[in-house]
Amino acid sequence: MKLFDLSGDVAVVIGGTGVLGGALAQGLADAGARIAVVGRNAERGQARVQAIAASGGHAEFFGADAESRSSLAAAHRQIAAALGAPTILLNAAGGNDPKVTVTADHPFEAIGADDWRANFDLNLVGGVLLPCQEFGPAMCERGRGSIINIASVSAHLPLSRVVAYSSAKAAVLSLTKFLAREWAPRGVRVNTITPGFFPAEQNRKLLFNEDGSPTSRTEAIWGHTPMKRFGAAEELTGAAVFLASSQASGFVTGTDIVVDGGFLAQTI
Ligand SMILES: NC(=O)c1ccc[n+]([C@@H]2O[C@H](COP(=O)([O-])OP(=O)(O)OC[C@H]3O[C@@H](n4cnc5c(N)ncnc54)[C@H](OP(=O)(O)O)[C@@H]3O)[C@@H](O)[C@H]2O)c1
Repeated sequence: MKLFDLSGDVAVVIGGTGVLGGALAQGLADAGARIAVVGRNAERGQARVQAIAASGGHAEFFGADAESRSSLAAAHRQIAAALGAPTILLNAAGGNDPKVTVTADHPFEAIGADDWRANFDLNLVGGVLLPCQEFGPAMCERGRGSIINIASVSAHLPLSRVVAYSSAKAAVLSLTKFLAREWAPRGVRVNTITPGFFPAEQNRKLLFNEDGSPTSRTEAIWGHTPMKRFGAAEELTGAAVFLASSQASGFVTGTDIVVDGGFLAQTI
């Protein structure tokens, strides 16, 4: 039995157009899965498809807005026709939005309710709820599937400034456990990966000044990370392949794998 062999699997990676989702799509492809790269940005999606092909894997891009159920349903139909029925769903769409970031000029009490809702629409509704509603029941009908949601260290302990994002990611942990319990009897496992800090598009402004130097926030993060560095996106791959593989993690559901260089273990 090969523990980490995903050949025969079809993995839908929503947010596969982004930094972490793209690296995870590559990692699942390297383990043998055929990949549906899903997102809105066709240019970045096609670039990821080409990178996977260049490394000997198979991927196709499917344009979809994760915040729209009908858009996901259309992508689902196209994916099933092109690659076969999905067996893995990796939800990596999400991110912080500067509009809801707390600053000296924009305190907590100034956060607009609509901006807060928009952040929940991205990280919870589009990030997890709608993709699980669209792809989960079909997996349950076939009695087989692994769903991996991307949380954040801020789901566990709310970080300063990114309060809406932290709240939405905390809800991701809760929804994941709910679905794990509901769908375990039907053969579908649902887990989260909690990344620590990985430089990407959505957090660039928080982590780096315009001249590329680290912000004071980056210095604080490194000071609180026992490994004293950011993660590299590829360092999330092992956790994803483990959770995706029914041979490796067939009795694992409703759990969370933290990949953070020790951030959540740091005290004094
Ligand atoms: N980087 C970190 O340190 C870190 C830490 C903890 C958790 N995370 C989480 O990891 C995940 C990936 O983020 P990242 O850091 O890799 O950022 P990123 O490079 O900005 O990727 C975000 C992705 O979300 C997708 N997305 C946003 N709205 C979407 C929508 N309506 N429909 C479909 N896709 C949508 C984007 O795709 P399109 O633009 O193509 O639509 C993009 O691929 C997010 O959930 C983020 O919260 C990141």
